[in-house]
Amino acid sequence: MTLSKSLVALVAVALAALPTYYAKSLPSYFKVCERDADNFGECIVESVNALRPHLDKGIRSFKIPPLNPLSLEEVSIDEGTGPVAINLKLTKLRVKGGQDYKVNWVRPELENHKIHFSIDLPVLEMHGDYEMDGRALVLPIKGKGVADIIVYKISPNATLIGKPVMRDGVKYMEVEDFPVNIGPASLVKLNFDNLFGGNKQLGDNMNRFLNSNWREVMDELRPIIENVVSAFLISASQSIFNTVPFDTLFPLKSA
Ligand SMILES: *[C@@H]1O[C@H](CO)[C@@H](O)[C@H](O)[C@H]1NC(C)=O
Repeated sequence: MTLSKSLVALVAVALAALPTYYAKSLPSYFKVCERDADNFGECIVESVNALRPHLDKGIRSFKIPPLNPLSLEEVSIDEGTGPVAINLKLTKLRVKGGQDYKVNWVRPELENHKIHFSIDLPVLEMHGDYEMDGRALVLPIKGKGVADIIVYKISPNATLIGKPVMRDGVKYMEVEDFPVNIGPASLVKLNFDNLFGGNKQLGDNMNRFLNSNWREVMDELRPIIENVVSAFLISASQSIFNTVPFDTLFPLKSA
């Protein structure tokens, strides 16, 4: 009993030590930005854009999982009050395209442990199981099957909200949240298979109808897309921020 307990404790200590170990080996392509430099914001833009080609397969030294596709267990929305009002649950979602981001600008606000980003995403493809029930512009809509949602050209604003955490006397800025405002899209393509219990004619008509009214559909789907983009940003950033000490990530010029 005592032995197995101390073994568990030992394993726990070894695991807890891992992040510190990883943090010591920043990959050579990772551009470190000095937080008191005049070009701190532009430096972060370059640094984050330079990570892009490495995110496809994940970044081992940061323990970033492969992000193309990003897998999400479940995202859902409850019926809103707009012209398209649906309960929609997406499960076993695979999201592609997040790694093709381009950061336009960054506004650091480190005194509040925040960093604001403006990002371009050329295309975001979501594929997964769906369950849906509601109304689309007065027409009832209901179904359960496989959904494909493709969103073209969005320019989200996102804010990394960090939380200062001390571990072994070392400061980290852990990622607490990464809320996203996606703004308008240039086009949304949708396909929900097996609508209306598999009635093909009704289903085809409804899919055509949804696609020709994609703007209204997008207004209803907005929270889902924002959650998906936010989940991508959290997955891409949290292991960096949670494993690399604040002063290593954002050192002072003088240090
Ligand atoms: C992003 O922020 C900029 C500057 O604050 C603003 O002009 C723009 O409308 C915002 N876009 C979104 C999608 O919120």
